[in-house]
Amino acid sequence: MALRNIRTNDDPALYKVCKEVKRFDARLGTLIDDMIETMNDADGVGLAAPQVGVLKRVVVIDVGDGPVELVNPVILESSGEQGDMEGCLSFPGQSGYVVRPNYVKVEAFDRNGDLYEYEGEGLFARAVFHECDHLDGKVYLRLVTEPPADRKKEA
Ligand code: NI
Repeated sequence: MALRNIRTNDDPALYKVCKEVKRFDARLGTLIDDMIETMNDADGVGLAAPQVGVLKRVVVIDVGDGPVELVNPVILESSGEQGDMEGCLSFPGQSGYVVRPNYVKVEAFDRNGDLYEYEGEGLFARAVFHECDHLDGKVYLRLVTEPPADRKKEA
């Protein structure tokens, strides 16, 4: 495994639509292992392949329950609403208040090409939406809004 360089700010890789993974080979496994190592090294809860310069639909997430790998993820359901501060490893030193659905059900392949469904709330849901947005070249900054008045004191 190896650490990969995290692309930041105006790097063009962050603003491109990524391609579906077609080959579930050793190279994909290496990419996923490297992404998990890079995410953990940076103390992140998620990382998308374009953040390491690879324009493929691959995401890793770890909200404290161990790493989850999502290849060609498709969001099947979302509901509810949550607002919280959010950041991104590609925009170091920044954060902003973002409202997201509170619940997600997502379908994705693992590195072996087996299809799984995951569901979760709160931070896991936030991470899934944030990382899947990366695969379409979208970054969270476009979603930042003013926090509600009762949250401003904390900010
Ligand atoms: Ni991000």
